[in-house]
Amino acid sequence: MTLNVELKPFAAVSDSMALSPSQAHANGAHSGKTSWREHFRNRLNRWMVSPALYQWSVSNVLTRWFTQKRTREVFDLMAGFVHFQVLLNCLRLGVLARVQQSPCTLNDLALYTGLPEERLDRLVWSAVSLKLMDQRSAGRYGIGPLGVLVVSYPGIEAMVEHNALLYADMGDTPKMLRSQAGVHHALMHQYWPYTVGEDRDDGAFAGQPTLEHRNDGSSESQQTERYSQLMSVSQNFVIQEIIGAYDFSQHRCVLDIGCGLGRFASTVAQHVDTLDLQLMDLPEVVKLTKSAHQHTPYCSRLSFIPGSFKTDPLPMGSDLVTLVRVAHDHNDADVLHLFQKVHAALPTKGSLLLAEPMADPQGERQDAYFHFYLMAMGEGRLRTPQKLSNMMLQAGFSRVELLSNPMPTHARILVAHKT
Ligand SMILES: C[S@@+](CC[C@H](N)C(=O)[O-])C[C@H]1O[C@@H](n2cnc3c(N)ncnc32)[C@H](O)[C@@H]1O
Repeated sequence: MTLNVELKPFAAVSDSMALSPSQAHANGAHSGKTSWREHFRNRLNRWMVSPALYQWSVSNVLTRWFTQKRTREVFDLMAGFVHFQVLLNCLRLGVLARVQQSPCTLNDLALYTGLPEERLDRLVWSAVSLKLMDQRSAGRYGIGPLGVLVVSYPGIEAMVEHNALLYADMGDTPKMLRSQAGVHHALMHQYWPYTVGEDRDDGAFAGQPTLEHRNDGSSESQQTERYSQLMSVSQNFVIQEIIGAYDFSQHRCVLDIGCGLGRFASTVAQHVDTLDLQLMDLPEVVKLTKSAHQHTPYCSRLSFIPGSFKTDPLPMGSDLVTLVRVAHDHNDADVLHLFQKVHAALPTKGSLLLAEPMADPQGERQDAYFHFYLMAMGEGRLRTPQKLSNMMLQAGFSRVELLSNPMPTHARILVAHKT
């Protein structure tokens, strides 16, 4: 059974949750009075840093776990970059793939990688501490409980390699934060050619190294293929969430805007065999999408629409429009305009389904990653369900539901209805 929540337009109280601290202050959210909740929080913070209380807490079996947990959390904040490097290098050196084949000794791994044992041991022990590898009998190492996930899903490995670009950009995070108008020269920005059109010529973020594959002379179509493949291999988790949460059989025709290589649309086509599907994306992408699906058993139910949702009219005829990991790449004005175009293209009782990672109003751990990923990419942003819902209502939709799905880390799902 699924529990769906209908989102009302932002009430003043929830509005303040979505504002930045400076906006909230400017809007009078900070009245100068301290609530009992804030008072308690301030007191707790003072306790947390009191040396006497720390000593008491760690010597008491009932409270020790809490202090240990806090300490581990702070340590993890500090160590995040190192953890990522361990993961990346275990993948790049093929160490995880090797131990997945069969457990082996450090000496075997040194021969396999060509690295000296007295250096490689640090990587291997780090991988064990992060559960990427584990220790087996007779001094051997095997694949660990997290490592097996990383090597078993090609989407995870591809995203880890791709994240190296983001972390290179974040080598100069202050510059990224100071930039007023996008991050033109960020590697992430250049990875996604469609965000490059959003550049404004103020030289922001100049001085970043240029993207290696651009220097290799790769054409725009090669770049398009690269990002489309990455999206396709990482889309599976998102597709499962959507298919499990929404009944597509209530529709006749689905228009998937920003369809990428069409993995989502083809899964829906195979799931409901009465459904027609329109697949829209930029012309370079649609060329690839078309060739990937033209000989499939369901290809007669697919139509391909090359074009930009920003400048071209949307095709008519669908009673459901889907936006899967599309809106978060774009600024508010473009997203609102897109919602308005979708609303105009849908018939009465038509719906818009939007699925992508969304911000938690209280702030979830994973939000930090997406906030910076989308900032490095260009003008996109991670939005709360409430913010997106408001934009949908502003575009003319009469009702918006937040569907319940088991893994919101992969995506949350909103459905907006036109009456
Ligand atoms: C992050 S990818 C998501 C692809 C796919 N929906 C998925 O979840 O794997 C965003 C997609 O939107 C497409 N896109 C970006 N700007 C577009 C525009 N103006 N018109 C149409 N498609 C666009 C991109 O080409 C890309 O395929």
